[in-house]
Amino acid sequence: MKVTFKIWRQESPDAKGTFRAYQVDDLTEDMSFLEALDHLNELLVLKGEEVIAYEYDCREGICGQCGVFINGRAHGPHNNMTTCQLHMRSFKDGDTIVVEPWRAASFPIIKDLIVDRCAFDRIIEKGAYISAKTGTAPEANAIPIPKSVADAAMDTAACIGCGACVATCKNSSAALFTAAKINHLNKLPQGKAEQHQRVKEMTWQMHEEGFGSCTFTGACEVECPEEISITNIAEMNARFIKSKIFG
Ligand code: FES
Repeated sequence: MKVTFKIWRQESPDAKGTFRAYQVDDLTEDMSFLEALDHLNELLVLKGEEVIAYEYDCREGICGQCGVFINGRAHGPHNNMTTCQLHMRSFKDGDTIVVEPWRAASFPIIKDLIVDRCAFDRIIEKGAYISAKTGTAPEANAIPIPKSVADAAMDTAACIGCGACVATCKNSSAALFTAAKINHLNKLPQGKAEQHQRVKEMTWQMHEEGFGSCTFTGACEVECPEEISITNIAEMNARFIKSKIFG
């Protein structure tokens, strides 16, 4: 299988970036997208050229580190899939594949396809936890939780923080990510004690980081590999108003 990768190359955060084309002739359909990039890097090493910087850890859709734009879509051509879960069989022989990093002011480019997503970490630090005494784990059924609530909390906990929602939003809004992290804990009894503080501080930090406002275009929901629903944003907004009244 032969493809041409057009890949964003940028030496450093302040350097001027540009697309560079690389033709690779000996890929197979069974290769994952990241394996194809690995192979391209091996070819670059053999030629004595600088390898392409990209990020990954788990390569199984869990860690959220591998996100890039592929032919204009976050994580590539399929819905509900991370870049590392994408395979070369999704492309045709002879295709040109354009690969670029997330584009958002709050995610500055570090090098090539790697962006700095520490803004997400700083939002998490503001409240995506519960304050609980450490010690022996409590009995699992000591606090009854209705199944519908547990299921809804699990749906939001599925967010892997990849940043596709921000990168694909025309406003570079982090509302879907922040809402998922807030609602996950605020739905559960264990998260109730800090619910008002959590929603106020995490949304404040989201704005501090320079993310744009949500205008409910729904693009984030479409590109989210974990299918986090945009209804979470409406729920976060309602929780924010409630926190202003009762918090
Ligand atoms: S490498 Fe972990 S989600 Fe892709």
